[in-house]
Amino acid sequence: MDYSIESSALDKLESECLILGIYENCKLSQSAEQVDQTTDKLISAIIERGDIQGKQGETLLINFIPNSTIKRILLVGFGQQDKITRKRYKKASASAINTLNAGKISSAHSALLDIPVIDADPQWKTRLQIEVFNDGLYQYQHTKTKDVKENDLKKITVLCAEDDSAAAETGLNQGVAIGQAMDLTKKLADLPGNICTPNYLAEQAEKIAEQFSALSAEILEESDMEALGMGSLLSVSRGSRQPAKLINLTYQGADENTQPIILVGKGLTFDAGGISLKPGAGMDEMKYDMCGGATVLGVLQAVAQMQLPLNIIGLVPSSENMPDGDANKPGDILTSMSGLTIEVLNTDAEGRLILCDTLTYAKKYNPEVIIDMATLTGACLVALGRVPSGLLGNDDALCDELIEAGDSACDSVWRLPLWDEYQDQLKSNFADMANIGGRDAGTITAACFLSRFTEDLRWAHLDIAGTAWRTGNNKGATGRPVPLLCQYLITRADA
Ligand code: BES
Ligand code: MN
Ligand code: ZN
Repeated sequence: MDYSIESSALDKLESECLILGIYENCKLSQSAEQVDQTTDKLISAIIERGDIQGKQGETLLINFIPNSTIKRILLVGFGQQDKITRKRYKKASASAINTLNAGKISSAHSALLDIPVIDADPQWKTRLQIEVFNDGLYQYQHTKTKDVKENDLKKITVLCAEDDSAAAETGLNQGVAIGQAMDLTKKLADLPGNICTPNYLAEQAEKIAEQFSALSAEILEESDMEALGMGSLLSVSRGSRQPAKLINLTYQGADENTQPIILVGKGLTFDAGGISLKPGAGMDEMKYDMCGGATVLGVLQAVAQMQLPLNIIGLVPSSENMPDGDANKPGDILTSMSGLTIEVLNTDAEGRLILCDTLTYAKKYNPEVIIDMATLTGACLVALGRVPSGLLGNDDALCDELIEAGDSACDSVWRLPLWDEYQDQLKSNFADMANIGGRDAGTITAACFLSRFTEDLRWAHLDIAGTAWRTGNNKGATGRPVPLLCQYLITRADA
């Protein structure tokens, strides 16, 4: 896909398709008004027929414009003009790309920068459009030999006012970087467990590192982890034929003495549950249990592309969780890298077992903050559904920054309490802690478990079990929380 910005005047525009906004009660946006004048009131005439009213998310493709260098017009409804939030802008932009992609249109111009969005500037609007358009055009094809059709759409140009062109340019670059990062994250997540193994993920990290001089990849093998005493992480991969990998993808964009921001992502390439086997229905979806790791790889690629002046270390512990004669058994006791012992009461609570040793390992880098992301608990889906990611952490300022970044990027999070009272649920009769905390508050007790390994760090945890993928007929990865983390890092870089 080719994305660009242009500040050409509407009356001279040559376009295969021009995207124009309208508001509720048939009110035209500024650009739509202008085009209406130059097309002999064509838009007004069509609206008068009642085919579109301007409600949020409505679209109408007008595919013949007499005597004009604009061949088609796509009208997009934004609802009430003074109530357009970032979320509504995103939703309407998504409707636009879906309609556009359904037709046989090779290129389009968007005139949606003139839509007034509460608390948003032209840079944000440009970036979001690119992000949403690119998301709508994503197609998984890697293991399909039939029914794959390339998108007709090849080029989108965002029109901007002369004065806004610098802001739009920045927005364009960010939108392209975030869009490509989401593509990568979604592709890795959508690939099946027999292709996307821990080794495959490690190779992808190396490939990304080859593309940018500021990135470097290092892969820790099981023997390295053994030497480091990662008994918890290694206990999970022992039940699998696929050796575990601990991926380190490092970005150096600042002075080497600048403390790094560390991102940790759960990279379970398939979670069968282990001896505490999961039920069969929907088990295929557990190939997505590496979405946290795929997000970390995507974000590091985006950060390198945007050349942010930060130091960032991405750590992805990757393994399978399988039933096997050598797998973890309920009751087994592990010694983690930190020295703390863990009683495995349920082998399906494996994410925290690979994350805890990675969090301990991260300490050697003296991070400024550490953020982990993981499809960690089904309980998070029960509590929050698929709307926000769960957020827990030991640092209010960091959590507030993530909440703000989520709101801004339309990739929201909701904070849950990490109070001491919940820690009691992890008591074990035989070890320092159990790996599960019973039925109640499963998302919180999972975070409580991780908190035991991050005590002296500024740390936040994102439970993305509900947000990282869609289930049902339209199942597939969403690319979340790539936008959230990119926004957080862009804000950090600007500060
Ligand atoms: N990967 C799962 C969590 C999950 C479940 C993600 C459903 C997305 C959808 C995780 O490893 C797991 O199995 N968690 C258990 C924990 C339980 C045993 C305490 C769960 O949520 O059931
Ligand atoms: Mn599990
Ligand atoms: Zn899992």
